[in-house]
Amino acid sequence: MRAAVNTSYGSPEVVRIRDVPKPQPKANEVLVRVHASTVNRTDCGTLWAHPFFIRGFTGLVRPTHTIRGMDFAGTIESVGAGVTSFRPGDRVFGLAPNDSGGHAEYLAVPEQDAMATIPEGVPFDEAVVCEGAWYADSNLRQFGLKPGQTVLIYGASGAIGTAAVQLAKSYGAEVTAVVATRHLELARSLGADRVIDYTAEDFTAIGETFDFVFDSVGKTSYFRCRKLLRPEGTFAATDLGPGGQNIWLTWWSAIRHNNRVIFAMPQPRKPFVDFLRARMAAGEFRAVVDRHYPLDAVVEAYRYVLTGQKTGIVVIDVVAEGESA
Ligand SMILES: NC(=O)c1ccc[n+]([C@@H]2O[C@H](COP(=O)([O-])OP(=O)(O)OC[C@H]3O[C@@H](n4cnc5c(N)ncnc54)[C@H](OP(=O)(O)O)[C@@H]3O)[C@@H](O)[C@H]2O)c1
Repeated sequence: MRAAVNTSYGSPEVVRIRDVPKPQPKANEVLVRVHASTVNRTDCGTLWAHPFFIRGFTGLVRPTHTIRGMDFAGTIESVGAGVTSFRPGDRVFGLAPNDSGGHAEYLAVPEQDAMATIPEGVPFDEAVVCEGAWYADSNLRQFGLKPGQTVLIYGASGAIGTAAVQLAKSYGAEVTAVVATRHLELARSLGADRVIDYTAEDFTAIGETFDFVFDSVGKTSYFRCRKLLRPEGTFAATDLGPGGQNIWLTWWSAIRHNNRVIFAMPQPRKPFVDFLRARMAAGEFRAVVDRHYPLDAVVEAYRYVLTGQKTGIVVIDVVAEGESA
């Protein structure tokens, strides 16, 4: 099968399209014919091995898993002898085992892993949304967002931010989204109750306070946002912040038992994918697709994602349009 392979860490140029052996599913696994994947910020992080400490998980000197692609959507081609909950022909999506393997024509996935059937009517390229949505949901859940609470989502145009707006609305929260001018309409269409253009207005000077302020793009800081917090309010971010301050602030908040700053731990993957499937089926969640690249152009896709300018997700078409699976 064809796959995008990186046997060393580095810039997108280390990725090569190669023929590699097709995975053989074990008794508890299904074999997925991958139609679509994404290049996302996690794939970029593991490609570069950035930050350095992630080598403790991904391989100290070189990557243990050499095919990137955390998101996948495709059709089940065959199932192992012990598989009971999926059948050949099922359309499925999810988070790939070890966050890797989606940039290939086939992927073996354990039946109990983070995988669910794609709701009827949702195309493959709109089902590869798990990475950003998972981080968004992990933050909202760790905070414990409740109906009627107010949340400000900074950077609501990225993969995490577009998901966070929709999921926060599905939890019944009142959402203020902060984006650039070009994304104002998008944020409104995703359900934001109020939108703020960060290029035209200082969002920290609006004179309002919130239960939860979520920096979904890692571009602001607790010290800038603290005046937006209610007395019991919480700040969370997707990045470590300058000097890793979000980690220190989280520890300080834990010592003081005040939940002022949290750094979300990833929530269990399988329940999350089932939850996202339900939101998609209910029409409460949709993918925001910026652009598509064929698998052959995966290096170009990395270069684009690394600009930090994508809107929502960047899809990799593993099966070209019109090509049969
Ligand atoms: N290390 C990892 O493994 C890892 C994994 C996942 C996520 N993350 C972190 O999580 C963050 C979000 O990930 P993502 O995938 O959602 O990001 P993303 O999709 O790449 O975010 C891009 C969006 O952010 C907006 N943006 C850029 N600069 C901004 C600013 N100063 N203020 C507000 N918006 C801005 C861009 O639009 P405009 O420029 O037009 O505003 C663009 O729409 C990233 O910073 C990433 O570092 C890290």
